[in-house]
Amino acid sequence: MDNQTLTITDNRTQRTYTIPLYRGTIRAMDLRQIKIDAGDFGLMTYDPAFMNTASCQSAITYLDGDQGILRYRGYPIEQLAENCTFLEVAYLMLYGELPTVEQLALWDCHVMHHSLIHENVKKFMEGFHYDAHPMGILMSTVAALSTFYPEARNIADPKCRRKQIIRLIGKMPTLAAYAYRHRLGMPYIYPDPELGYTKNYMNMLWKRAEPKYAANPVLSRALEVLFILHADHEQNCSTSTMRAVGSSGADPYATAAAAIAALSGPLHGGANEEVLRMLDEIGSKDNIPGFIAQVKEGKRKLMGFGHRVYKNYDPRARIIKQVAEEVFEVTGRNPKIDTAIELERIALSDEYFIKRKLYPNVDFYSGIIYQAMGFKPEQFTVLFGIPRTVGWLAQWEEMLQDSEQKIARPRQIYTGPEQRNYLPIELRGVRQAVQVG
Ligand code: CMC
Repeated sequence: MDNQTLTITDNRTQRTYTIPLYRGTIRAMDLRQIKIDAGDFGLMTYDPAFMNTASCQSAITYLDGDQGILRYRGYPIEQLAENCTFLEVAYLMLYGELPTVEQLALWDCHVMHHSLIHENVKKFMEGFHYDAHPMGILMSTVAALSTFYPEARNIADPKCRRKQIIRLIGKMPTLAAYAYRHRLGMPYIYPDPELGYTKNYMNMLWKRAEPKYAANPVLSRALEVLFILHADHEQNCSTSTMRAVGSSGADPYATAAAAIAALSGPLHGGANEEVLRMLDEIGSKDNIPGFIAQVKEGKRKLMGFGHRVYKNYDPRARIIKQVAEEVFEVTGRNPKIDTAIELERIALSDEYFIKRKLYPNVDFYSGIIYQAMGFKPEQFTVLFGIPRTVGWLAQWEEMLQDSEQKIARPRQIYTGPEQRNYLPIELRGVRQAVQVG
């Protein structure tokens, strides 16, 4: 296409600038030439919360929020969820191609080989209070891994990076399972690599006195699908955190711990926990209209609804809704699904939600499945964090190889006072004491 430029006239100076367009964007640095005079800093963009700013180029995940499309490396999420194992998708994310039979066998073996954790990490975890939130445990323990693998600081070495990536993907289910059992006061179960990624995780969660824990195949497949759906979602809050922290050169464990912190918030991954609490509070279907009224008055949020990018039905929520029915065949129906479906029906026919294009997101139905499987709400976000680790690491690796990337360092518009001079305390007069605590 010709004329891939933008012409800007600065009405302050009447000067005109021609700025190249690149894939539907302009480079913010091209605005810097727009100045009133030579001493002027030049024009910047102001975009709180990155509402309209691309911070990177990425070949990993494609998301079309208006059409409700999600693809990993070009493959529709529906096809991957139906046909792949989670580790197959992890390979795709990291290497850009689906593995062959031999590649997958080797990859599974490498990842599972790293599922064991150092005994001192186990001891470290034992120190947490009995009711510590599992996301807090996971965040701190992943950060602590950086002290166990000091070579991880060598982020310029691709081989070293690859080792840490496999190591962390391998260890996440073990850390998550230990965080789960710690809360219950149950002994930790060592990983059994032969079981594979998901079944091994279930074994570490739920094995009791039986000689061999046999995971239900429907439930382990459901978990596998949920892991695939959560593996990446382009530049969301935790992934942006991963890239921003990683851009300083921090090692991948410290960086992933920061991403886990971002994920834990109720507006991000923590929403799945909040949805269950909300459904508990609503109780019966009769209370839905009253709850919706509160949402419309701005007193509450409908958790599990709305998305920065999706302005259509989240394709992951659609798949999760189907998975729920399969899980209930085994576990029995979680009655909260009926409240959730009714909540969705009422919301999707209400002007408030229609006008704002608010649809169920990935967190709306996932918690109902997790609860049916036996997880408590405080575990739900951990179940998001295990697979998202793959996306974080793929994005971290991509960021480190991108020659355009530098340390993340946004600009600001300063709104504080002009320069003023220091006043000794005895000359500051009398001001009301500020209440502390
Ligand atoms: N309930 C009620 N109103 C909502 C909701 C909601 N869940 N989400 C957005 N709105 C309203 C919001 O009040 C605003 O209204 P108005 O234009 O009158 O001010 C409008 O819709 C646009 O919302 P926004 O807050 O500007 O949108 P955002 O892109 O900044 O926020 C969001 C996106 C996901 C944080 C938000 O929709 C939200 O808080 N949802 C509930 C929490 C949730 O489910 N989070 C999980 C997100 S998906 C998975 C993940 O990222 O982990």
